[in-house]
Amino acid sequence: VAVRGEHVYAARLAKSAIAARGAVELHLSERGAISNLKLRPCAYPPLDLDEKNSSSSRANDADKGKLPPGACLLRVRAVGLNFRDVLNVMGLYPGDPGAPGGDCCGTVVSVGSGVDNVRVGDDVFGLAPGCLQSYVATDARLVHPLPGSSSPSSSSSSSSRASVLLHEQAAALPVITATVQVALVDLARVKAGDRVLVHAASGGVGMAAIQLCHTVGATVFGTVGSDAKKAFVRSLGVKYITTSRDAAAFETDMNTFLSQHNHNTNRDQDSQQGAANNKVDVVLNSLPGAMLEASLRLLGHGGRFMELGKRGIYSPAQMRRCRPDVTYEAIAVDHMVESDPAWFQTMLKRITRLLETGFITPPPTHAFDMTSASGKHDALAAFRFMQRAQHMGKVVIRLPSIADNNYRLSGRQQTDNNEARQSLTRGGGTYVVTGGLGGLGLVVARWLVV
Ligand SMILES: NC(=O)c1ccc[n+]([C@@H]2O[C@H](COP(=O)([O-])OP(=O)(O)OC[C@H]3O[C@@H](n4cnc5c(N)ncnc54)[C@H](OP(=O)(O)O)[C@@H]3O)[C@@H](O)[C@H]2O)c1
Repeated sequence: VAVRGEHVYAARLAKSAIAARGAVELHLSERGAISNLKLRPCAYPPLDLDEKNSSSSRANDADKGKLPPGACLLRVRAVGLNFRDVLNVMGLYPGDPGAPGGDCCGTVVSVGSGVDNVRVGDDVFGLAPGCLQSYVATDARLVHPLPGSSSPSSSSSSSSRASVLLHEQAAALPVITATVQVALVDLARVKAGDRVLVHAASGGVGMAAIQLCHTVGATVFGTVGSDAKKAFVRSLGVKYITTSRDAAAFETDMNTFLSQHNHNTNRDQDSQQGAANNKVDVVLNSLPGAMLEASLRLLGHGGRFMELGKRGIYSPAQMRRCRPDVTYEAIAVDHMVESDPAWFQTMLKRITRLLETGFITPPPTHAFDMTSASGKHDALAAFRFMQRAQHMGKVVIRLPSIADNNYRLSGRQQTDNNEARQSLTRGGGTYVVTGGLGGLGLVVARWLVV
């Protein structure tokens, strides 16, 4: 209490128990170690907008701090990690992959001129390079409204099967689904009866590939790195699973599996046909060295070899020399996106349709929180978890907002929060919240009634 002349002043403001903070970014000081990633406050709007503007031919002083034409600014909600991000941070990705973070789900907070596929307020998913931060600007062609979003550009209806997609589920989808659609649908043209070898089958790409193969009626032969992953992939309905870490054991197991499968499915064929059937039709490869060589030996005449790896892979000429019969594709979705963003917009629409019709469902996610105070659940823990290849499905980093319905308070925060509410409000009282439909108004209203 402060006494000033005849006036007595009492403190009317109390500190909120909710640790609201401003925009943050996961900054990478230099490549080489995960510990080089540091969470730090960042500017809003992002400072690199001016950098992006300066590359636009229409930029002038009036454009400072504005979005470039064709871009949109997202409040990032969740980031799906890819193995590429781990390699990027470790400095093991060939070339310059840019800042880590690509797969993203967020809410559009502003749009540049000429953008008509998304509008402010839409929840969108897609790619936003360098999205490990609260706000990121991206080419609007690289994002699309989530199924069930309000945008007129979204073909979805609120009754669609995918309308309850969580932010982290949406962030898990873009790269893995696009990769599998390109590799197995567009290039390998996987069909019913095909035998498809899927390496790292319990990862994001692996799970999406299994789903696709099962939908079209192809048989999956999967590889994994541990017994826990084996049990997981078996639970997805895959019968033939072997190791991703021991090339000799892999090849032996695969030969056994293929003759079992051959025996079960083609009892009436002659022996020549039988030998041809002891091979796979398609390889979805991401493993180098002896695993690659063994996979190639297991691929039948005229088979399709879809290479997803970056290091230690065959050049097309090398493959032509050693297996001229094989269709070989070294796929780089990141380069495809960079050289043709409009193609990726078409791909996002395709993914949305596949979700709406139930042809694909998001993989299980293992979620970490960007601003978690616990070292076990923060963004660095997410990178380390993926680096150790402990995950099954997708690793996702959430950037929750206190305005989110599912924002979680810690036990201590919950107690403080309840005490603050009791001391400041009267049970059964009536309160007027001005500007109640704004972000802060909604948070206050929810706080009053919870
Ligand atoms: N070219 C493209 O356009 C493109 C696009 C997307 C992904 N990819 C590549 O496709 C692969 C799968 O992608 P993803 O995002 O779904 O990754 P992921 O499968 O979730 O993670 C990579 C997996 O590789 C396996 N692995 C095998 N040997 C390993 C080793 N020595 N150290 C660490 N991991 C090892 C691990 O599974 P196990 O423990 O089961 O062996 C690990 O979980 C990755 O190599 C990725 O870079 C390429």
